[in-house]
Amino acid sequence: MHIALLDMPQQYGEKDFHQFVFDCWRSGGAMPLRLSQALFDFRMGRRGAVLLIKGLPLAQQALPRTPERRGATCNPASLFSRKLMCVVLSQIGHIYNFAAKKDFDYIDDVFPIFEDRDAQLGTNSSFLEWHVEDGFHTAKADLAALFCLRGDRSAQTYLCEAADLALEPHFREELTKPNFLISVDPTFQSNDDGTREFHCAVLSDGKDPEIVYDPAYMRGVTPLAQAALEHVRSCIDEVYQSVTLEAGDLLLFDNRRVMHARSPYQPSYDGSDRWLLRALLLESYWKARECVSELALPSLAPGRGAAHGVAVGQSRQPHNVGQSEAV
Ligand SMILES: [Fe+2]
Repeated sequence: MHIALLDMPQQYGEKDFHQFVFDCWRSGGAMPLRLSQALFDFRMGRRGAVLLIKGLPLAQQALPRTPERRGATCNPASLFSRKLMCVVLSQIGHIYNFAAKKDFDYIDDVFPIFEDRDAQLGTNSSFLEWHVEDGFHTAKADLAALFCLRGDRSAQTYLCEAADLALEPHFREELTKPNFLISVDPTFQSNDDGTREFHCAVLSDGKDPEIVYDPAYMRGVTPLAQAALEHVRSCIDEVYQSVTLEAGDLLLFDNRRVMHARSPYQPSYDGSDRWLLRALLLESYWKARECVSELALPSLAPGRGAAHGVAVGQSRQPHNVGQSEAV
């Protein structure tokens, strides 16, 4: 694909992220037709809840060593990929992030950190438990995206759509009740009021339900609720799918319908480890209207602080992970 030769936007960052995203959106007009069509169909709900785009170009500059700690991760190669990711994602939603995130950026780096190896964070190397992104937050992403800069064949990304779960009826009913407590994960700084735990339901009604599932940060407040949570896990084990991300892969999924996880793997912490970029997307800034001050949302105001940025992903059948686009 020749997107690498597009008139890529020059600026990236907080100074005027809104204008940057506009430039990205404009650049997207020169994307290959197959990619544009796939993104359009995904946005219109014609491709299920997961879309894997393969073969996106990487920077001409060599990718430097995978970082080993947070901060100071920016370099020409990853900046190119951040921009390219924004060109693609600007076609389908609002790129955003949460202002309270430590080490804020609109696009997050995800790589293994030795100190986090056993934590329930994307930077760990033990099994990353099933979850949806930021399930505790009213402005959790509608879509999430993972762009692989450097892969690891032993690290598998797992996906599971709520609609595929064969839940026992009495557990399904329990899961629709607000009998669960979900806590804020440690990548967020404390809320002003110190609230770190919220009541929620796990599942909405209907055959194609929304799900909030994050057992590492969630518990049932009754024995039945806790048993229902554990039942979800056993149902996931029956239907989940897996994909091994390779450099140039962009994985998009609907964060309201799809849970994800990652296998354990063995990083070497020598600069050669797996390195992903992660973005969050909202379908509409209006859906985040109740908590705009907590977001970095370019649709509403430039800069981070008062009112900021927002960002936005689809699998009905297990084989949808294979709905890939070579570009
Ligand atoms: Fe995640």
